[in-house]
Amino acid sequence: MRTLSSLLIMLFLLIWYGEGKKTKLKGIRWWTLANIGKPSNDLRSNTQLYNSPSLLPLTKKQRKLVTQHPGTISALQNGARMAIDECKFQFQNRRWNCPTQDVGNGGPIFGKILEKGNRETAFIYAITSAAVTHSVARACAEGSIYTCSCDYNLKESSGKDWEWGGCSDNAKFGHKFSRKFVDVLEKGRDFRYMMNLHNNEAGRVHVSKEMKRDCKCHGMSGSCAIKTCWMRLPSFRDVGDRLKDRFDGASQVISGNRPNSGRKKKRYKSFQFAPVNPNHKKPGRRDLVYFDSSPLYCEKDISIDFPGTYGRECNASSIGIDGCDLLCCGRGYVSKSFTVRERCSCIFRWCCDVKCEVCTRTKVVHTCK
Ligand SMILES: *[C@@H]1O[C@H](CO)[C@@H](O)[C@H](O)[C@H]1NC(C)=O
Repeated sequence: MRTLSSLLIMLFLLIWYGEGKKTKLKGIRWWTLANIGKPSNDLRSNTQLYNSPSLLPLTKKQRKLVTQHPGTISALQNGARMAIDECKFQFQNRRWNCPTQDVGNGGPIFGKILEKGNRETAFIYAITSAAVTHSVARACAEGSIYTCSCDYNLKESSGKDWEWGGCSDNAKFGHKFSRKFVDVLEKGRDFRYMMNLHNNEAGRVHVSKEMKRDCKCHGMSGSCAIKTCWMRLPSFRDVGDRLKDRFDGASQVISGNRPNSGRKKKRYKSFQFAPVNPNHKKPGRRDLVYFDSSPLYCEKDISIDFPGTYGRECNASSIGIDGCDLLCCGRGYVSKSFTVRERCSCIFRWCCDVKCEVCTRTKVVHTCK
């Protein structure tokens, strides 16, 4: 009896381990599209496109999807680059500064931090699926995807002095496409997948529910007798700023119930997150959620592909996280002075040239030990 139960336990552990293995980063390699040159022709015949080497980082389902919607590859590439740039911009002054690795055509650009479930992981999932939504929605309106166009259905009610017209960004298509393309990677039914799905959707909502009205005047010499308006996406910087706010206020959650069985959508819809701190409110649709606490991000940590803050430039007069004390984790810093020559005292002379002097200035750069 003893041996039987220990055998059962071992069997259970083996299965559990196998399940855990499945959470590996399969398929999210699509971000490596950012590194590949422009596909020579996005709109080749479908079979050619399906088999084209630039689609190798994609899963079968993703490949099928981009083949059904010719033109989306460029939008995806563009989206991947936008997401990486925005992540680096938003985190430039923090210890974790969204490090990426050049992995060629294979591995995950953001590294193994994606296997974790902390705030930073949450942000990466949200910003990347937001970028796909944004980029595809804009590409529709620009006419570079075969199966979508401007959204002409966004006519709520016209105002007194303006009417709907023109070409609205197709956030609806972008949202749907991103959901199909990005969420297809989340296959399990464990908590991590629910977290990823939630953050993916949060990212998308920050794009598709933040459309703004944009208008253009017509009429004699700018008289604005007629004004036509359409809906425009927020700038991706706005999306990044908002998601960064959500990152700062992200909720640490535990499972509020067991995930249902059944189809993914149903499973996700019925799933509930409960805040770890019962005094916090339940996370909403736009909130980012996480379950792992973040490390300090001081030392090199290969389990999350983080290089440490060694050699990072810091601000000696700041008491914030970009200040040398905090950024260098108390290890201290080295200061080096450089002489920089720059143009200064520029004068505009009629007409048309600009005369400047060359000044030399000493610039001090501090870097973490
Ligand atoms: C360094 O920090 C100070 C104080 O917060 C700030 O005024 C200054 O602009 C910062 N310098 C740089 C180069 O960011």
